[in-house]
Parts: sequence; C-alpha cells; structure tokens
Amino acid sequence: MPVNILFAAKAESWADYETPLRRALDAHGLDYRLATEMPPETVDYIVYAPNSEVQDFTPYTQLKAVLNLWAGVETAVGNPTLTAPFARMVDDEGLTQGMVEWVVGHSLRHHLGMDAHIVNHGHVWQADAPPMSRDRPVAILGLGALGQACARALTALGFPVSGWARSAKTLPGVTCHHGADGLGAALSGAQIVILLLPDTPATENVLNAETLALTAPGAFVINPGRGPLIDDAALLAALDSGQIAHATLDVFRTEPLPKGHPFWAHPQVTVTPHIASETRPDSAARVIAENIRRGEAGAPFLHLVDRTAGY
Ligand SMILES: NC(=O)c1ccc[n+]([C@@H]2O[C@H](COP(=O)([O-])OP(=O)(O)OC[C@H]3O[C@@H](n4cnc5c(N)ncnc54)[C@H](OP(=O)(O)O)[C@@H]3O)[C@@H](O)[C@H]2O)c1
Repeated sequence: MPVNILFAAKAESWADYETPLRRALDAHGLDYRLATEMPPETVDYIVYAPNSEVQDFTPYTQLKAVLNLWAGVETAVGNPTLTAPFARMVDDEGLTQGMVEWVVGHSLRHHLGMDAHIVNHGHVWQADAPPMSRDRPVAILGLGALGQACARALTALGFPVSGWARSAKTLPGVTCHHGADGLGAALSGAQIVILLLPDTPATENVLNAETLALTAPGAFVINPGRGPLIDDAALLAALDSGQIAHATLDVFRTEPLPKGHPFWAHPQVTVTPHIASETRPDSAARVIAENIRRGEAGAPFLHLVDRTAGY
C-alpha cells in the first residue's frame, strides 16, 4: 500500500515543493502518493503550512503525523483537532543558514555603524573607527536551532555572546543562562540583543520596560523571532530615551505591519517584511522525507512540537 501524503499549503507553494518532495521521497525508495487533494480518511501524513485551508483535522482519521513547513507553530499548536504527532521545520541547510546570514548582517550593520557612511549626504568626514567585536557584548534570547547557530557565527566573529533558554545549556564560547532568573543576567550590559524565541504565553513581552533597562545604554535590538516578544510601547519609549539606539524588526504583532504603525516612520527603526529566513524547498523537502521515512520505519520523528510548552 502506498503512503498517502497530502500537501496542504497555499496553492502557489505546490509548484515550489512538488519536485523537491518527490525527489527526496524517491531517494528513500518510498512507495507513496503525493497530492494536494485526497480523501481525508486515507491520508497518512500532511505536509502542512498553518495558513492552508486545513484547519479541522478531525476527518483525517488515520493520520500518522503533521509535518510543518514553518519553524513557528504558534498558530497551529493550540488547534484541539490536531492530535497527531506534530513536527516543526528545522532545516540547517536552508532556514537556519538563512537566519544566520540575516542576523549576522544586521548585527554587523549596527556594530560597524555602517549607516553613518552609507548615506552621508552631509559629506561628513567622521573618523571614529568602530570597536572590535570582542568589545561588543551580544545577548541572544532563545538558544534553539536558530539561536544556537547564530551564537556560533557571532562567537566565531569574536563577539562575547550570552544566551538565554528555558532549559540549562552548555555551548562552546557562549555564556548560557536559563529560566526566569537567568534573563537579567543574559541581558545585563548587552549592546546587541537578538530575539529568537518562539511566540508562547511565557515569552510574550519578554522585552518590556524593565528588561530593556538592563541592556547597555544605546543598545541595538534585532527581532527576527516573533512580534509579541516585544512590548511595542516600551520599545518606542526606550528608543526615544536613547536606552535603545536602534531596533531592526522583521516580525510584528500584526503582519503586514499596519500603515499607520509608529515603527514605519520612526527614524531609529528598521522594518523588514518577515523575510529574515524562509523555508527552502530542496532542503526542507529532505527534512520532511526523512520524517516520513522514520514514521514508516517505526523510528521516532524528528523535531516534534511540545504542545504543553507551545513550541
Ligand atoms: N523571521 C523569520 O523569518 C523566522 C524564520 C524562522 C523562525 N522564526 C522564529 O524563530 C523562532 C525560533 O526558532 P527555532 O527553530 O530556533 O526554535 P526552537 O529550536 O524551538 O528554539 C526556541 C528557543 O527558545 C527557548 N525558549 C522557549 N520558551 C522560553 C521561555 N519561556 N524562556 C526562555 N527560553 C525559552 C527554548 O528553550 P529550550 O532550548 O530550553 O527549549 C529554545 O532555546 C521560531 O519560533 C519562529 O518564531 C522566524
């Protein structure tokens, strides 16, 4: 019997994913049917984007797993009809590498003070050399797949990196903190703060008036995680007071960021339209196919979501 795999994502994604998925499934020698429509009661696996039309999983009575194409799961993890094993996307070659490049690029922009020279209409001969990376402490909130990879890249460039996660970690060259008590230590004196936490009830407003005050004065905030991690009003106040020099924000509470939102016009805010990193079809297809291979071999799935923790 072939394994029935339903591709449930926006219609335009099918053109990007069909060939890579078939190639990756063929590489495992799997006997399968892959389609965008099939009778729900016959479906074994759903390759899933949370913005697809599938929101009620009840008719999928023999589902073995739902394999998310996205890293973030906040819009699906609370779905009471999604009771099958639910894996999220961790893709070192694509999603993670893209995030490392985006985070390093935006960190270096602020570290090197590039803006002063890129647009220098006043033709000002400003001769202050930037500090060395070793004198620029970085805090990374969230030490998962993405946070750890960014920590590795930034420590390799010489930045002193402190990190924060829910559980205790030991990472080479990174000063790791964890739990509610560790947040202050991770942020204390940081000149660049990078948010790579998931959006859960426990992480909402993790950057607020109190925690923003713990960074070094004039710190930079870089948020490619999720919008609700930041108390927007507190960030705007910290920007206006100078406690935060600049915020580079890729994610927002409402996306697209509404036209009248103060972030658009703020001279110390850079808005990027949720492009920090996206799932890349070739490498993501290999991750999906590996999980289907595992499911069929009776092996544990990779990257399962912890529904209680919400990520
Ligand atoms: N902007 C974009 O284009 C884009 C692209 C991809 C992903 N993202 C975002 O990036 C987020 C992180 O992705 P990931 O793959 O690195 O996720 P992940 O592997 O699940 O890592 C999440 C990290 O956050 C920590 N964490 C969770 N709740 C916490 C809490 N209450 N207190 C302290 N630490 C907490 C976790 O701690 P433990 O290690 O102890 O579990 C883990 O280190 C995603 O959830 C998504 O929102 C954005």
